[in-house]
Amino acid sequence: MTDELLYANQWNTSAQYFYEKGYYSWMEEKLSSFNTVLEIGCGTGYSTLALVEKGHQVIAIEKNMDCITQAKKLLSDKGYSKQNVIFIEGDIAEDDIRNDLINRFEFDVVICWNVGSYWNRKMIEYYLPFMLEYGLDRQQIAANPESSYSELIIWNACRLASTKGVAAHIIDRGTKAITKHTDSYYYTLKDEFNFRTIEYNNKVANSISGGGRMLSTNGNVNSEEKVDIVFVSILYK
Ligand SMILES: C[S@@+](CC[C@H](N)C(=O)[O-])C[C@H]1O[C@@H](n2cnc3c(N)ncnc32)[C@H](O)[C@@H]1O
Repeated sequence: MTDELLYANQWNTSAQYFYEKGYYSWMEEKLSSFNTVLEIGCGTGYSTLALVEKGHQVIAIEKNMDCITQAKKLLSDKGYSKQNVIFIEGDIAEDDIRNDLINRFEFDVVICWNVGSYWNRKMIEYYLPFMLEYGLDRQQIAANPESSYSELIIWNACRLASTKGVAAHIIDRGTKAITKHTDSYYYTLKDEFNFRTIEYNNKVANSISGGGRMLSTNGNVNSEEKVDIVFVSILYK
């Protein structure tokens, strides 16, 4: 099995759990005033499903073709079509892809939900120049490659939204709630990209096996293991 397919299968388990617990509905509630959503990194489609069920049109961009295949099947099994969602294979870190999305599509909000768990070590060579362009130095990247990658993707989501003149919605998973009093990161993006407002919301939740990667206990995959998490919602307008 390829790494991409393994990732898609593992993430699908976590995403289905999030869907069934209503966590994607909670995320979608923040978007009720927006019609068309550009979703960055749709994974296997459970987040997309929660959006179309509430009447949004979705343009979903995803770099893992195995995720797209599973997302397409999920949406079509549930009765949705190209009129509800368009899937595009592509990497949001690439200028050509972002420019193409800006020029070809109309959308009201860019969302980037839960990109955090995607990192694997093989990606460092390709993404290092992008992370340096974003403004991290080599020491920061080496110390925290996964969060460096996550920041890179969130930054690109905000950059895309700001260039298009639309809102941006970020969902991050952590262990602590973030409020305007404790935030030392997200408000810097508000200023960098000239958003007028920033809204914080948090939801205490849990995740199967750390989210996206099932834990092994004594050599056995344990899909029941729950991990306490906090979903952090950041909405820029
Ligand atoms: C943890 S999943 C989250 C999926 C969905 N947003 C959700 O909340 O269920 C992150 C997804 O982002 C995709 N992704 C990561 N980096 C990306 C990039 N540079 N461009 C497009 N998609 C990306 C991954 O392939 C993965 O499917």
